[in-house]
Amino acid sequence: MDTQIETTQTATQLLHSISGLIEGLPIGEALARLVARFPGQVVFSTSFSIEDQVIAHHILSAGLPVSIFTLDTGRLFPETYSVWSGTNDKYATKIKAYYPDRQLLERYLDEKGPNAFYASVENRKECCYIRKVEPLKRALKGQAVWVTGLRAGHSPERKDHSALEWDEGNKILKYNPLLHWDTPAVKEYIDKREIPYNPLHDKGFVSIGCQPCTRAIRAGEDFRAGRWWWEDNSKKECGLHAS
Ligand code: ADX
Ligand code: SF4
Repeated sequence: MDTQIETTQTATQLLHSISGLIEGLPIGEALARLVARFPGQVVFSTSFSIEDQVIAHHILSAGLPVSIFTLDTGRLFPETYSVWSGTNDKYATKIKAYYPDRQLLERYLDEKGPNAFYASVENRKECCYIRKVEPLKRALKGQAVWVTGLRAGHSPERKDHSALEWDEGNKILKYNPLLHWDTPAVKEYIDKREIPYNPLHDKGFVSIGCQPCTRAIRAGEDFRAGRWWWEDNSKKECGLHAS
């Protein structure tokens, strides 16, 4: 058997056994089982979206030993930094940040300038790679489970994801506990518990990323219409989440 097939079988077996471990459990219990099975190797990536705040609350209010990190691209909205700070204060924690590699970023900016992402999809993907994807790879190194706030309702592509899946690119189990939640359920959870959230969500911003690449959506537009709004829909992923 060649190594690739062996690796694929091992990943499939792992996925199967961990699915059995957490299937049907509420988020807090599923996370508790994951940290017991993989001590010190469960991480949660937050962009401080309304979904991510639901997951952060589960982790921080129960004191679960899940490391939480954010990818600070350097181009986030001021409001996002306020939610980050408010979350640190509310839960008496300090969420870790990963930053772009200085040399990669300086070379890109020297060659292309600060707003090159508007000029081509290639430039935009390169900026996303430097500011998000490469730092994510560092954040996931040596970890076993990556928890995200991905939802199926975000886009047609995201319907193909599973609550627990194998991320071949990062060689890690990926747990998307809110995959099948809808927007009203997320909002209700946040409101009932007075969890800090980004005030831009009340101004028509539904999916929030970097400031220069995010706008509010208009009535009837898709959930992700405000992300990279100048590009056509088929290109609207930054590379963090491959199907
Ligand atoms: S993106 O790929 O288009 O940027 P999106 O904003 O929908 O992703 O967020 C989906 C999930 O990806 C979030 O719930 C979070 O787990 C992760 N994520 C996205 N952006 C970041 C970020 N800047 N830092 C950490 N995690 C992020
Ligand atoms: Fe760069 Fe825009 Fe991608 Fe942020 S969303 S990393 S600013 S291209």
